[in-house]
Amino acid sequence: MAGRDAETLALERGTPLYVYDLARIEEQARGLQRAFERAGTALRLRLALKAQRDPAVLAFVRGLGPPGSPESVGLDVCSPGEVRHAIANGWEPGEISYTGTNVSERDLDEILAHGVHVNVDLVSQLERFGRRARGREVGLRLNPRRGAASGAGRGHLYSGGDRPSKFGILEEQLDEALEVARAHRLTIDTVHFHVGDGFLNDGLPAFEEAVERIAAMARRLAVAGCPIREVNAGGGLGVPQGPGQAPLDLDAYAGILVRHLAGLDATIACEPGDFLVKECGVLLARVVSVEERGGVTFVGLDAGYNVAPEHFIYGAPLEVVLCRAADAPPERPVTVAGNINEGDDLFAEDLPFPEAREGDVVAMIGVGSYNQSMHLDHCLRPPARVVAFADRS
Ligand SMILES: Cc1ncc(COP(=O)(O)O)c(C=O)c1O
Repeated sequence: MAGRDAETLALERGTPLYVYDLARIEEQARGLQRAFERAGTALRLRLALKAQRDPAVLAFVRGLGPPGSPESVGLDVCSPGEVRHAIANGWEPGEISYTGTNVSERDLDEILAHGVHVNVDLVSQLERFGRRARGREVGLRLNPRRGAASGAGRGHLYSGGDRPSKFGILEEQLDEALEVARAHRLTIDTVHFHVGDGFLNDGLPAFEEAVERIAAMARRLAVAGCPIREVNAGGGLGVPQGPGQAPLDLDAYAGILVRHLAGLDATIACEPGDFLVKECGVLLARVVSVEERGGVTFVGLDAGYNVAPEHFIYGAPLEVVLCRAADAPPERPVTVAGNINEGDDLFAEDLPFPEAREGDVVAMIGVGSYNQSMHLDHCLRPPARVVAFADRS
């Protein structure tokens, strides 16, 4: 990891241990920014804070560019706690974009006091926002009824499949939204959409359809007099997680957005979580037991699903590697079990694995997003330790 020996790090610092290779975040951020430059525009890039909020990681992301500069990375937040965390870690309110759901009066009072820009995702939320913040600028999260994913994916959770999703104002609700905005003298200045989850190149045609529909909805708002200054394409960009998967073609991604949105004269923004931080993180754990029972070999770890919930909550793929013999041929299938007192605390089942021994160190690869930030207090097992490297030794 970051040029260091993973086993040594685990033994020196203790496990479970997240190790972050921060340079990977910079590579991903610059890759996206450069792709938009090649497509003829400057991207406003933000990190989805819910994916990764470790202070050491945030200090590095903050250092990628001074506030408001083209190299800087702002933050997408979705709760009052995230607004506070963003500001405490050095972001200015103008660099923070709030896109949350089911925002209460209490939430709004706190968010508005900080002066961050808010995108609302329901007409009734716009009404609530208007009552609380007459005359302010606001964004609309729109739902184009088209989701993007790779393979089966989870894009439909954001923009709906057979049934509507819980997010976003639908095309037929635009007039109603405009009326509510007028009644409260709100200025609709942003169009937001988040329609994907982990999409790679095979998800781009569906993403393009979503962008086309969003562009049409944004034009309707513009014609109705809304000064749309930003179109925020959300996150959902994937990274390869399986054999044979190619990285997302960033020129194709940027090209789709620029082609369909150019006429609006708005800044294009996006706010990935996975794409920016997933690949930077590895979780190291020690093997505490190896035992065969009933024909199954259990490899038990000193880490459980509480420290790395993504695989368990979202069903995300998880690669587990034996650090001592990372490239050794598998010896037998094993079940990799955690230290939470629940039967489904299993990191892998029937995983072809080299011979494992007590005291070995295993690494879970590509866990930089939606893991440390989703720690659970289950069984009062503490959060994993963290070490982050900005250089590759
Ligand atoms: C509004 C919004 N923006 C950005 C993201 C980040 O998504 P991802 O990590 O898939 O890029 C999410 C994730 O759910 C989201 O809901």
